[in-house]
Amino acid sequence: MASATLSTAACPSQLCSSKNGIYAPSHALLFKPTKFLSLGKDRRMKIACQATSISADRVPDMGKRKLMNLLLLGALSLPTGAMLFPYTYFFVPPGGSGGGSGTFAKDALGNDVVAAEWLKIHGPGDRTLTQGLKGDPTYLVVEADRSLATYGINAVCTHLGCVVPWNSAENKFICPCHGSQYNYQGKVVRGPAPLSLALAHADIDEGKVLFVPWVETDFRTGEDPWWS
Ligand code: FES
Repeated sequence: MASATLSTAACPSQLCSSKNGIYAPSHALLFKPTKFLSLGKDRRMKIACQATSISADRVPDMGKRKLMNLLLLGALSLPTGAMLFPYTYFFVPPGGSGGGSGTFAKDALGNDVVAAEWLKIHGPGDRTLTQGLKGDPTYLVVEADRSLATYGINAVCTHLGCVVPWNSAENKFICPCHGSQYNYQGKVVRGPAPLSLALAHADIDEGKVLFVPWVETDFRTGEDPWWS
């Protein structure tokens, strides 16, 4: 069983006893609990409260409260910002890792393709997938003279978007989904694909392969590029 006693040095008349409730018309009450345990037979705990009155227009430790609010705001802002940045960055389309609007080609491990190193392990006629513009799978082409072709071939089928593998035996790209075929430069030679594979410029920038959007005439068809 617990009981409480109230004491006030300043305005005792403003306080009512615990029987009648506590009421101070124009003052707030601050209780400073000091408790002690009675270790008597009935092990009753007595709690004594000291009450002091403060005026309504005074808030204790307002400076400290503001400081604590600022610290709390800062503590919440830092982790929130740290979480929001990668979340926002996720929606930014890839690209721009090269100069201008180009994108450096990435190999299967995600490393930039260095032309000289690439040609050491990829012989004439080779067509190997890299990561190109907007992350699209794009073939790097090695010419018969062991140089890199100045164009890359986007491997996304123009029918329904399957990735089209290179068939070296047939010297064609043959789509496994519905059988569309493209010649060695990616020009469509059999449907149902309606269009040739898209092109990108494959430039060399400081030794690395840089894909740049192809906006000129498609040299395979003599027509404007459908993809730009
Ligand atoms: S997705 Fe390539 S032929 Fe249909």
